[in-house]
Amino acid sequence: MQRYARIIGTGSALPERLVSNAELVRELAQRGVETSEEWIVARTGILQRYLAPPEVSSSMLGADAARAALGAAGIEAASIDLIIVATSTPDYVFPSTACLIQKSLAIAGCPAFDVQAVCSGFVYALACADAMIRTGAASRALVIGTEVFSRILDWNDRGTCVLFGDGAGAVVLAADSAPGILASKLHADGRHEQILRTAGHVSGGGITGHPFLTMDGPAVFKLAVSVLDSVAREVVEAAGLTLADIDWLIPHQANVRILHATGRKLGLPAERVVITVDQHANTSAASVPLALDTATRDGRVRSGHRVMMQGVGGGFTWGAVLAAI
Ligand code: UT7
Repeated sequence: MQRYARIIGTGSALPERLVSNAELVRELAQRGVETSEEWIVARTGILQRYLAPPEVSSSMLGADAARAALGAAGIEAASIDLIIVATSTPDYVFPSTACLIQKSLAIAGCPAFDVQAVCSGFVYALACADAMIRTGAASRALVIGTEVFSRILDWNDRGTCVLFGDGAGAVVLAADSAPGILASKLHADGRHEQILRTAGHVSGGGITGHPFLTMDGPAVFKLAVSVLDSVAREVVEAAGLTLADIDWLIPHQANVRILHATGRKLGLPAERVVITVDQHANTSAASVPLALDTATRDGRVRSGHRVMMQGVGGGFTWGAVLAAI
């Protein structure tokens, strides 16, 4: 019997504090950082973001999203036998955020580890969990993307600080004789590591390097549009399908202009592209599961639909997972 991994529940969590563009522009002006609501909306499509207070960590948001996904799946945390967390803003250098979430869920024994692929992290984690379920190494996995990117933003850099938000999303994957995840494709090209990075580290009791995110926006934009197109074509072909068979495209939510360009290049109507970047801004590894949960809970994504999730970001990394819901 063929063994597949199927998404049986989704969940998400956002910090309480919603910060509109107007509020952010006011706060940045007090620091002497000049930006405008008009620029943010016109260049990115972002209207607002959620920002976590200092006491809220990635593991807390991730555990809340996991509990919501378990609730949607109607299963107990005790039946989970694998936890994979995608994050670039872990609580600690170690232990992993996955182990902290495992503790928060009051379960023990199953493997738990973090995946580091920045904004492609959730798609990477989903592909890993799928492979482990298909080989029989696991039967019920929690796959979580969670971030507090606000912690690594330079609030004096208007080119990056208006773009990101905090949040978490999660899915429960379960072994099934019916698909399930139909195909996945992952890529990286470390030659582009310098265009998007946080090149700092904890060392000798202090921070070495630069502890804030830096980005060559136009270079990332150009690469993102190109690889989101190529990996979409690759993954539908691997599944023996065509782009016309896709009900929903859920790309990484970085910029509404990238989302529209990707949809256009693939010939998918705008109504089939899920957009949440306007509401959440760029939440890195959390963006795809947050968008999937939003579109599932509002009734757009339904049983029988085929959903293509796409990640792209620092590394440079990119990938896609095609799933039948
Ligand atoms: O999550 C990982 C993936 N990340 C992405 O995919 C992000 C990809 N990149 C982007 O989304 C876009 O490149 C940005 C939104 C980051 C920037 O948009 P852009 O159209 O590429 O603008 P730009 O960087 O070329 O800057 C255009 C102008 C510059 O002014 P001059 O040099 O033309 O006078 C910037 O200084 O916009 C200026 N600018 C701003 N102005 C007001 C940059 N940031 C701001 C700002 N407010 N916040």
